Amino acid sequence: MNQPVHVTPGQRLGALKRAIADNGFARIMEAHSGLSGIIGERAQVVVDGETLEFDGLWESSLTDSATKGLPDASIIGNESRLHTIDEILHVTSKPMIVDGDTGGEIPQFEYFVQHLERKGVSAVIIEDKVFPKRNSLDAAASQALDDPVKFAGKITAGKRVALTEDFMIIARLESLIAGTGLADARHRAELYIDAGTDGIMIHSNRRDPDDLFEFVSGYDAMCERMGRRPLLVAVPTTYNQHSDRELASLGFDIIIHANQQLRSSHRAMNGVVQSILETGSSWQADELSTSTKEIFSLVGHDRITATDRERSEALRLPVIIPAAGRDEVFSEGPKSLIPVAGKPILEHQLESIRKAGLKRTVIVRGHEGGQFDTYATDENLSFSDN
Ligand code: SPV
Ligand code: MG
Repeated sequence: MNQPVHVTPGQRLGALKRAIADNGFARIMEAHSGLSGIIGERAQVVVDGETLEFDGLWESSLTDSATKGLPDASIIGNESRLHTIDEILHVTSKPMIVDGDTGGEIPQFEYFVQHLERKGVSAVIIEDKVFPKRNSLDAAASQALDDPVKFAGKITAGKRVALTEDFMIIARLESLIAGTGLADARHRAELYIDAGTDGIMIHSNRRDPDDLFEFVSGYDAMCERMGRRPLLVAVPTTYNQHSDRELASLGFDIIIHANQQLRSSHRAMNGVVQSILETGSSWQADELSTSTKEIFSLVGHDRITATDRERSEALRLPVIIPAAGRDEVFSEGPKSLIPVAGKPILEHQLESIRKAGLKRTVIVRGHEGGQFDTYATDENLSFSDN
């Protein structure tokens, strides 16, 4: 049975840096909803005796937008993105990296950084394009780059408002997407490193990005000249013939699988709706679908059912009220029928018992026991005579 996850924002925030230090690099899976967050977080396989799992989640602008049926073109605002981020954080415990698009104007970015850090997000990546941006994988889109000095100022501003060293601001180079070339990417990287960036993401939408690999091979030397080496981030959507380990061995510290859960679920959903239309029933679609039982377990429904059962069993346990006593002062009747605050002591007790949802009560009668007969009509009450 799946237990609910619980982690403080601070514990989660620092976990990305720890994962990179422990594992050599971080493997990140895209999530666009609570459910995809759960799947990405819990995925686990054993390969050659080694247990593998993702180190964190990527909250992608592409998949968040597509989940809402919208294009990835700065249509969705920060409020909506924060809503999805919260939804995922609520049901997961692993680190999250947020895709911050262009970051907007400096004041917007500052608020966004504070908001994300407070929630326990580990890093935000912003791309050096102008608002409104277009998705980088669309080779037909025109891609306008931001002024690099202005963009460097945004990084510095974000670093200034972040409270902890653990929260990272990562600069995303779009030179290879916009076609401005390797020299431009290097020039921009130097400016962003100087501005205090915690990481450099170099992006490409080519299948064989020689220019990207050339950038990577010169990265350490550049960082040595600059006196510090920010983390290097890859999003190998188009060049995914290269494995995570291979990319890590080239120098990448974070590898983001940016949209695979959304794309695969789209294909699966399409197959199922077509099958139902074609066959006239959902009989065959069952084979293509996860059972409701498994979904119940995944989202914690079976835990609620089990707890409900335990509670209702506990509620059936009888409550015993010892009411056989005789009071020295009020000796004419049973002690528990003495009025207090306008009604007998027993009434106060029964009221609390009912409020707690307890079902059965046994009154132990003794002295003047017949006086309890007025309660005999209550089907939840029974008597035991002392
Ligand atoms: C995203 O996942 O939204 C990204 C990566 O920004 S990409 O779609 O490749 O631009
Ligand atoms: Mg994006």
